[in-house]
Amino acid sequence: MDRLRIVGGNALSGSVEISGAKNAALPILFAAILSEQKSIIRNVPLLADINTTLKVLDSLGLGTLFKLENHTMEIDGSTLNAHEAPYELVSTMRASVLVLGPLLARKGIAKVSLPGGCAIGARPVDIHLMALEKLGATFTIENGYIEGHAPNGLVGAKINFPFPSVGATENTLMACVLANGKSEIHNVAREPEIVDLAIALRSMGAKISGEGSETILVEGVKSLTGMNHGVAPDRIEAATFLCAGLMTKGKVTVTGISADFMQSALDFLSQAGAKISSTKDSITAEYVKELTPLNIVTEPFPGFPTDMQAQFMALLTQANGKSIISETIFENRFMHVPELIRLGAKIKIKGNEATIEGPVKLTGATVMATDLRASACLIIAGLAAKGETFIKRVYHLDRGYEQIEQKLSQIGAKIYREKDK
Ligand code: EPZ
Repeated sequence: MDRLRIVGGNALSGSVEISGAKNAALPILFAAILSEQKSIIRNVPLLADINTTLKVLDSLGLGTLFKLENHTMEIDGSTLNAHEAPYELVSTMRASVLVLGPLLARKGIAKVSLPGGCAIGARPVDIHLMALEKLGATFTIENGYIEGHAPNGLVGAKINFPFPSVGATENTLMACVLANGKSEIHNVAREPEIVDLAIALRSMGAKISGEGSETILVEGVKSLTGMNHGVAPDRIEAATFLCAGLMTKGKVTVTGISADFMQSALDFLSQAGAKISSTKDSITAEYVKELTPLNIVTEPFPGFPTDMQAQFMALLTQANGKSIISETIFENRFMHVPELIRLGAKIKIKGNEATIEGPVKLTGATVMATDLRASACLIIAGLAAKGETFIKRVYHLDRGYEQIEQKLSQIGAKIYREKDK
């Protein structure tokens, strides 16, 4: 296992190129299952989760070719010869459940290991199954697997989501595009990654409208061509780097992304006292004065993203006063708190609410990454802590951040990957 060693105290300064969004690339790669033709997907980030996705596609018989040099993935949909996503892959990446919709739409059968929970919560898939049943699929759950059948194909339907689940929206959208007839899906997720998936599906000939709003309309078609699509930039990676810059009292620019993708996070950074400026494809956050505390509630897009909760918590340890963060999306997404406390943070948790007292002097220590965004939070804290911080289990980090230590080193961070003795 690897660990990261960070020597804190340097103000970060400079520009970072943002990679393609993990949470857009994953559903878009699975959408290639929908076509018998070859799909080309560009700007795919080099991540552990992408490698797992490739393994799932390979296990389904699809030809895959990842051209590392230009982050382009070629997927040949003509050789699909299986319909099962096995436990050993799904248990390492729950997003593998996103094969359900495309396999049911294309083959009328799908068998996927129940994803199981993960560090941040139970992560049920009941909304996915409810929506796919409305489209005519039937499911059995046994031996830890979900088996879905739609032998006569899927039929368009009107579907109301009880909660705007990102994954359920993606699975349902990918099922509707080949269903017979029209579908109306209400109370859907509105994240930019949903919009990017809809654009990718439209490039295949899908008839979709309304993505990014609370209702998506789909008119099913008989078949789809291969896609040719460039993945949208990663708004969570971008916001993570802006937080790191502010944490070190520096000035960081993220390039290849527009402020439209992340207005809520930027509004909160401005409210905390950062100087935010942007062009059509870059955003700069500059530390100009002591940060002021914030009251944050995580919400579905366009609200404050839960995937930025941990990173903002690290930053708010330096705000002058008491901040409150309420996590309303996942039931167990405060595992970074005890690790931040080891670095000197003053945080109390009551239910789904964390209270952060600042500013505190952070000092380096050995800490443990528990999930993807918690890892990023610990890096941000380590960059400001006095002395050395060691972050263990960085495999969590590699799932969602491409070359993060190289990108941080380019803007002044003293961060090194080492073998964990
Ligand atoms: C996606 O997860 C993201 N992952 C998550 O990012 C992100 O935190 C989350 O959306 C919310 O924005 C990917 O896109 C691969 P949900 P997903 O379905 O689809 C409950 C990261 O760090 N729920 O919107 O699993 C669920 O338990 C990861 O990049 C049901 O109850 O999120 C949770 O409490 C972490 N039943 C809430 O909804 C369901 O059928 C949000 O889940 C589905 C979800």
